Amino acid sequence: MADEFDLVVIGGGPGGYNCAIRAAQLGLTVACIDKRGTFGGTCLNVGCIPSKALLHASEVFEEAHHMGALGVKADKVSLDLPAMLGFKEKTVDELTKGIEFLFKKNKITGLKGTGKMLSATEVLFTSNEGEEKKLTAKNVVVATGSEVISLPGIEIDESRIVSSTGALSLEKVPGHLLVIGGGVIGLELGSVWRRLGAEVTVVEFLDHIGGEMDGEVSKTFLRALKKQGMKFKLSSKVTGVETSGKTLKVAVEPAKGGDAEEVEADVVLMCIGRKPFTAGVGLEDVGVMLDERGRIEVDGHYRTNVAGVYAIGDVIKGPMLAHKAEDESMAAAEIIAGKAGHVNYDVIPSVVYTNPEVAFVGMTEEQVKAAGIDYKVGKFPFTANAKAKVGGMTDGFAKIIADAKTDRVLGVHIVGPDAGNMIGEAAVAMEFGAAAEDIALTCHAHPTLSEAIRQAALGVDNRIMQM
Ligand code: FAD
Ligand code: NAI
Repeated sequence: MADEFDLVVIGGGPGGYNCAIRAAQLGLTVACIDKRGTFGGTCLNVGCIPSKALLHASEVFEEAHHMGALGVKADKVSLDLPAMLGFKEKTVDELTKGIEFLFKKNKITGLKGTGKMLSATEVLFTSNEGEEKKLTAKNVVVATGSEVISLPGIEIDESRIVSSTGALSLEKVPGHLLVIGGGVIGLELGSVWRRLGAEVTVVEFLDHIGGEMDGEVSKTFLRALKKQGMKFKLSSKVTGVETSGKTLKVAVEPAKGGDAEEVEADVVLMCIGRKPFTAGVGLEDVGVMLDERGRIEVDGHYRTNVAGVYAIGDVIKGPMLAHKAEDESMAAAEIIAGKAGHVNYDVIPSVVYTNPEVAFVGMTEEQVKAAGIDYKVGKFPFTANAKAKVGGMTDGFAKIIADAKTDRVLGVHIVGPDAGNMIGEAAVAMEFGAAAEDIALTCHAHPTLSEAIRQAALGVDNRIMQM
């Protein structure tokens, strides 16, 4: 009896563990399996949380060097890297233990080991110690996440050629870190090691950084990172890494092809994207269909083509973000419990936790243009925001794009201090179908950074007051 469940979740990341919790809250008997020694998935163990701990610690280190202007003398600032890495580990440890607590509280059976579907209603659990047991499940949710993509011929060894996982635990600050890919991981972890003293060069295939972020934001962001000392080789690609010598010799070519230049580096960080992880889950045996990019195919209710088998998170289509996985986890659990579950994919915020931060939700100006929508833009720089000024953090701006006819907010883009926290306001407004005028008429406390959002909203109608 004990091995029969209403729901077995394979994968204990933000998709899996939240799905288990919501389903248990709704009265289902639930088991959640993860093969890592700890729950929390990529996000808690080797993703969001350790990277943000290092981003925070390295930012404090950087700021400590620049406090003279505030009248604070900190002459003997030095780096204790093992202690900084220890802070990161402690943060991860406490949060992963928090999930164990939540599992106990919600009477979820947490199983550490591998889950493999034998049929739509049977999952073989092999514990990390090698013991096997068959679980019976009325429903199965696959939430097995994603893994790093590498370039052909370049092998990640997690010491000199690292993925984000290795880059979160380098034992010493590299002299020169070469980052392949100017997306989220490259810019966040590149920032960490630049602040700690490394020379950092980012090689990006496209002619801009940050992937699909708003073009104007991307340009301002690039300028700010260059000012901090990060170097960029845009419209370029890495074609090989020679590892035989003491330093790595990286071949960098123009993206369109042409002569390669050789760049020496101590460490290479590979971050050109991630792909869904589906190996060993038994999907082929059960007949679960994948799409052309290896993602599990689901319908609007997270149902695969096999009855009773669902999938959520990085392993299905959509942005690979923890909060997207979490939203899907709630919706899937509710659907399995016979309720209505829904995710609004038009309002999923994205944040890059650098300094300045970049945060956005909704459509970029390029997307609005391409869709042929008649639009208006309001923009407000942080140089004119009092709170940014008193904090000495005036890089960047807030930008609101609204439909010219209806005034409905289509997108909000912020590059600046604390943009990640501020984007929540924009997401709530958009979820409620707000017009720019609604934000413009909402009283914002003074002095706060969020006043920049209100001024940008006023700007949609050409009536910015503070500039
Ligand atoms: P995962 O978190 O990947 O969890 C899947 C779990 O399934 C893993 O623990 C895996 O071990 C387990 N598993 C796989 N197969 C099996 C099996 N057969 N049996 C048992 N267990 C199995 N997103 C954000 O929103 N904000 C951020 O700041 C952020 N920072 C990131 C930083 C880095 C360096 C990285 C790499 C990612 C970051 N992400 C961030 C992305 C985020 O981590 C993912 O979107 C999120 O973890 C996806 O959740 P998931 O539950 O789908 O999968
Ligand atoms: P990414 O998709 O964000 O960026 C990859 C970059 O590499 C792109 O700019 C792409 O143009 C470039 N690229 C691709 N091939 C290349 C090549 N051959 N040479 C040079 N450049 C090349 O992927 P990244 O940074 O690896 O992150 C993976 C995922 O993790 C992202 O999808 C993101 O959603 C998630 N993540 C989210 C974070 C956050 O929300 N703050 C933080 C870190 C990761």
